[in-house]
Amino acid sequence: MSDHVKLIYDGKTYELPVITGSEGEKGIDISALRQTTGLITLDPGFANTGSCVSTITFMNGEKGILRYRGIPVEQLAEYSIFTETTYLLINGVLPTRKQLNQFSILLNDNSLIHEDMQSFFQSFPRASHPMGILSSMVTALRSFYPEIKITEEEINLMVTRLLSKIRTLAAMSYKISRGHKVVYPRPDLSYCANFLNMMFDNPVKPYQIDEDQVRALNIFWILHADHEQNCSTSTVRMVGSGRVNLYAAISAGIAALWGPLHGGANQAVIEMLTKIKEEDSGNVAKSVERAKDKNDPFRLMGFGHRVYKTYDPRAKIMKKTCDGVLEKLKISDPLLDIAKELEEVALKDNYFIDHNLYPNIDFYSGIVLRALGIPTNMFTVMFAIGRLPGWIAQWKESVDDPNWRLSRPRQIYAGPAPIDYVPIEDRI
Ligand code: ACO
Repeated sequence: MSDHVKLIYDGKTYELPVITGSEGEKGIDISALRQTTGLITLDPGFANTGSCVSTITFMNGEKGILRYRGIPVEQLAEYSIFTETTYLLINGVLPTRKQLNQFSILLNDNSLIHEDMQSFFQSFPRASHPMGILSSMVTALRSFYPEIKITEEEINLMVTRLLSKIRTLAAMSYKISRGHKVVYPRPDLSYCANFLNMMFDNPVKPYQIDEDQVRALNIFWILHADHEQNCSTSTVRMVGSGRVNLYAAISAGIAALWGPLHGGANQAVIEMLTKIKEEDSGNVAKSVERAKDKNDPFRLMGFGHRVYKTYDPRAKIMKKTCDGVLEKLKISDPLLDIAKELEEVALKDNYFIDHNLYPNIDFYSGIVLRALGIPTNMFTVMFAIGRLPGWIAQWKESVDDPNWRLSRPRQIYAGPAPIDYVPIEDRI
């Protein structure tokens, strides 16, 4: 197969190199395109554009494959725990037992939050969305923990701090939003158990750690841990390319994740299912018809994906986890029945078949979170905690890249031709 493509433009032929990834994916290297031809490419939404070469995550949208550092996500969801998957993503290999123990100790050592940060929380209006609070608090971490000098050791400390403190910050914001006393992290608990304890323990009803719930949370976070160059990860890389500090880049990623077309979809799914239950008396067909109507902006939330044109492999695991958690906790959630019926009707519908629209990770994840007692407005925060290892791994890869360049796309200008400034008194 040819290792270049030919571009014929304005009577001249240019050769552009084709590069091949380790899974046989091919791309045209256009880094010298403008310099040699004067042309740029135009690709709204970057649907055809590779922004980097990466060794972290592989996904194949046609076959429904997702691997972190080569390991299938199905295996990680079955055998790994979130902290181990985090180590894998950030360091490139699975840790030895000793390395994992050391990593857990470091996470524990860094789990406390500067007490002054609590007063910060208190100042947010009660109705603030937790994603806005989280994004602000992560930026604020830099002021509370400024780096002395950028060394590898300092970066590792910053990474561990973020991984550990984000979980404390999220639980703390929930407690404060309810007007309850903050629960501190406990060194004897695992990462996931600690989070649940900080969220739900209170002096009246001490929280009982349930290993099935802890396992479900591990799976939830493992499935969210990375997804190559998605909207929020690309934001982290882009903001990071200006060489801002890690906290600022992650804070930008959190803001990007917030939207309902991206991470905010898990909250939007539950809102949609609740509406079907309460306003449409459980009639799913009405929503399917609305989603097909091009005059109606409504979309089936939790359906469709830019890359997956088949069932999202994470959604399969999430659906199984959802069934397992509800069964073990002996919970019957009417929203799960509606979700399953909606999925069945949509998957048989020609519009959804022709458009390759399948459930994505967000379709069932909200029901798992509800079963764990997480309030709906915290769902996207849960996604953010899970995605943090991926953001960090991608940020590290980009800043260590010898071919690093400031991200700065170009545009095709379609505005007015030059015109003169008109003084205000002469304007009509
Ligand atoms: N319901 C109805 N129609 C849909 C849906 C949907 N959920 N998703 C896509 N379509 C249709 C579009 O209307 C369009 O139809 P047309 O070609 O006839 O005009 C076609 O499918 C392609 O849609 P695009 O928006 O161009 O596809 P894109 O790849 O840009 O969008 C996205 C992907 C944003 C995820 C989209 O499928 C969507 O809005 N889904 C609902 C929100 C959602 O679940 N987001 C979470 C994604 S996973 C994640 O980020 C964690």
